[in-house]
Amino acid sequence: MTNTRNAFPKGGRDWPDLQRDIRARCADDIDWQHGRTPLFVFRNDQETYEIGREAFFECFSENALGRKRAFFGIGSMEKEVLDFGLDLFSAPESGTGAFTSGGTESIFIAIKAAREAHRARNPSQRGDVLNLVVPITVHPAFDKAAEAMDLEMLRAPLRADKRVDPAEMKKLINDRTIAMVGSAPCFPHGVIDPIDELSAIALDAGIWLHVDACVGGWIAPFFTRIGRPTPHFDFRFEGVRSISADLHKFGFCPKPASTVFYRDAADLERATFKSNSWPNGPFETPTLVGTRPGGAVAGAWAVLNHLGIEGYEDAARRLAKMTDQYCEGICAIEGMELLAKPDLSIINYGSTEVDIFVVSENMMNRGWLSGLTREPKGMHAMMSLLHDGAREEFLKDLRECVDLARKSPNAEAKIQAKY
Ligand SMILES: Cc1ncc(COP(=O)(O)O)c(C=O)c1O
Repeated sequence: MTNTRNAFPKGGRDWPDLQRDIRARCADDIDWQHGRTPLFVFRNDQETYEIGREAFFECFSENALGRKRAFFGIGSMEKEVLDFGLDLFSAPESGTGAFTSGGTESIFIAIKAAREAHRARNPSQRGDVLNLVVPITVHPAFDKAAEAMDLEMLRAPLRADKRVDPAEMKKLINDRTIAMVGSAPCFPHGVIDPIDELSAIALDAGIWLHVDACVGGWIAPFFTRIGRPTPHFDFRFEGVRSISADLHKFGFCPKPASTVFYRDAADLERATFKSNSWPNGPFETPTLVGTRPGGAVAGAWAVLNHLGIEGYEDAARRLAKMTDQYCEGICAIEGMELLAKPDLSIINYGSTEVDIFVVSENMMNRGWLSGLTREPKGMHAMMSLLHDGAREEFLKDLRECVDLARKSPNAEAKIQAKY
């Protein structure tokens, strides 16, 4: 067997040499700057991108873990970002939040808080397997949290409009349920679950409702504000106890940056990890990670202040127009249809005539990475304004790739839906 392990370098390479190497390594990446990946990257306009980047590097070395004892500037910017989120999501005065390094972390600590609240109310259940009641479309970050915290996942099916069926959620609740979850929107189909109905069920059953607004949370309220029929999903519904919302997705802020909000400050306490067992004394964080990039906080603070309400409304307008144009273009191709009516700019579409996975393979051969859903079989795109300029070329290629698939009806796709 050949040894493929790289030896620890001798050192001494200068920056121009390293930069050349980095660029060469990334040369074959998908052309994401021109909208050829429907995943992983987000962009508003060039100016917002540059402001986020500049602010990030302004505080490149600062550690947000030290925001209370050393890096007071990071602390003040973090507080402002959290205040803006509480305002955006209609949190009551008692509301509070934490700045985290991603959606998975925001979800993990909100679920931990829900578990602690359940344990406090049900001390006799200590050691029992507790559960989460979720839609089948919920993000795997919940499975990750459930696996780490030994929780069971009870999954409810969807209605025809691809939103979770609240009656099915209700049926799954039992005395071991620590929380229900709704997505705003769900990743697979881009639609917002009926949070108003889930909230009523949660209040009635006395159960925590977490809203996972990781992917669209920071932009969805602006879609509503500009008059799109995008439903509300936030603390205005009394049963909503926590919300996760990523800044590094449709907040257009540099990675890694997410937020988690609680209706009540006592729930932040429940989420907080506390230890007093080592020689250096008490240690606590409201996050899962310890060290956090100061640049992410400065970047988010700068982008939010740069865009403000007007900037996000403008982005929502441009995203909405672009999404409509993509949807119209896709539906104008014979045999193609939307699998759900998108609430934001995440679209899921399929075909009544050809194997959509074959179409997707054909598109990949032309340099378009596509997301796929397996149930129902469809192509999937999470579109930011990186995709605006690529629309005509994409739709032309899609039309040709559908034609190609129609000409070879026996073709079998080798690809499978895989994130
Ligand atoms: C709905 C939803 N929740 C959670 C996450 C997880 O976020 P992250 O990848 O930042 O951990 C994602 C990521 O796409 C998502 O779409």
